Amino acid sequence: MNVLHVCANPKPTEESVSKQLAAAFFGKLIELRPDVELVNVNLYDEKPPFYSYELYRGAWYPVFDENYELSKVEEMAFNYAGKQAEMFNEADVLVLTMPMWNFAAPAIMKAWMDQILCPGLTFSISKEEGVKPLHKIKSVVLLVASGGIYKEEDERDALTRQVRAAFGFIGIEDVEIAWAEGQNPLFFDNCDEAKEFAIESAVEIAEDIAELALDSTDEEVVSE
Ligand SMILES: Cc1cc2nc3c(=O)[nH]c(=O)nc-3n(C[C@H](O)[C@H](O)[C@H](O)COP(=O)(O)O)c2cc1C
Repeated sequence: MNVLHVCANPKPTEESVSKQLAAAFFGKLIELRPDVELVNVNLYDEKPPFYSYELYRGAWYPVFDENYELSKVEEMAFNYAGKQAEMFNEADVLVLTMPMWNFAAPAIMKAWMDQILCPGLTFSISKEEGVKPLHKIKSVVLLVASGGIYKEEDERDALTRQVRAAFGFIGIEDVEIAWAEGQNPLFFDNCDEAKEFAIESAVEIAEDIAELALDSTDEEVVSE
């Protein structure tokens, strides 16, 4: 099983609750499935560029005109997106680790999503066939921490909605979430309890993902 882990958090693990969720998740997953092929992308080390006009032309002009030929500059605009999409398309599971910042994903994570959620790279799009995945990701695991508490369907939460909508668009319906809410000690007395609860969720999700991997290995054996 190939797992791509994309992390958008500049803090060291001891200061970051979302990174602690990731440590618990991967600790359990690797314990259960030592054969996991894990690729880590730390977005603060591999910073995505902001979306450019050249990338827009290179990605979308061929969708509307199949004879469109990319210029050198347009080809070069795919440098980051192409490399990241290659790792994305190799993965069976995508793990996203991030804090909630201003009710949404950190800008660096959004910039990464803008790069890889691109026609011709991770999906194809046409009038006849609609959107077709070019990847094989079965599940997205979202490991997130926030200062506040957001009950289900809370309109202020733009983070989980965006992740579900963006990856749902390219055919990934399964989004598993471990969310350490209420991490602001000025407002909540039970931050540690909330963190421990989220760590338990992360471990449970890892157990499910490990099973999923076993299922797909079984399928491969049967179809051989
Ligand atoms: C720039 C910034 C913006 C934040 N915005 C929000 C927010 O909109 N809602 C919220 O609940 N917490 C917000 N927080 C608090 C963080 O989500 C919280 O500290 C969380 O634990 C961060 O995750 P981490 O511990 O993995 O870094 C913000 C923190 C920072 C630094």
